[in-house]
Amino acid sequence: MALLPETLQDGQLELRRWRPAFVDDMLSAVTLSFADLELWMPWAQSVPSAQELRGVLSEGQTAFDGDREWNYALFERISGELVGSAGLHRDEDPDCPEIGYWVRSDRTGRGYATTAARTLAGAAFAYLADVGRVKIRMDQANLASAAVPPKLGFELFGEENREIAARGQTGQGFVWVLDRAKWTAAAG
Ligand SMILES: CC(C)(COP(=O)(O)OP(=O)(O)OC[C@H]1O[C@@H](n2cnc3c(N)ncnc32)[C@H](O)[C@@H]1OP(=O)(O)O)[C@@H](O)C(=O)NCCC(=O)NCCS
Repeated sequence: MALLPETLQDGQLELRRWRPAFVDDMLSAVTLSFADLELWMPWAQSVPSAQELRGVLSEGQTAFDGDREWNYALFERISGELVGSAGLHRDEDPDCPEIGYWVRSDRTGRGYATTAARTLAGAAFAYLADVGRVKIRMDQANLASAAVPPKLGFELFGEENREIAARGQTGQGFVWVLDRAKWTAAAG
């Protein structure tokens, strides 16, 4: 059994682990959001086919069960619609996993990315005993993404050079980090 739960709930969102069965709703959300995703997300340089996306979701399922990364679709509780995706990835840095997120373009500005990041940070500290810190990284030009971590108590840990892999990117990144001790103190 995977270390993280199949579903997580916080406020207006329910996070459900990726399933290939989400392919149609996920493809609709990606298609609707393509102009925003294409600017920032290396994986979104073209709209995937349903078959490609089903494969991605299936690989995500394997990674979830293998405790390498835990990806969740974001479901809006009031409508039941799939409104984005968020994940916790520890392949690169097991001691400090990374949170990533995207939100369907017609649902941005409602705090959903912040809610998803808060939920995943809390889950990391609750279910991964060896994890002392989590991080969020983004290109410095991605102002909406960079507004999320400070709302949750993340501190700016540093800046980094990144490969430019999408049209909006500058190659200059921010790295934000949240300590378990700070999270626990805030939870209180
Ligand atoms: C970045 C993204 C995830 C934000 O999702 P969201 O649900 O709108 O985020 P939230 O509502 O939780 O918070 C966004 C914050 O950014 C702020 N913001 C939005 N656009 C901004 C801008 N151009 N300049 C400065 N701040 C901005 C919002 O005001 C909000 O802050 P507030 O709550 O203090 O008002 C969403 O725009 C998205 O999916 N973008 C495309 C994919 C992407 O960039 N993913 C992140 C890759 S690192």
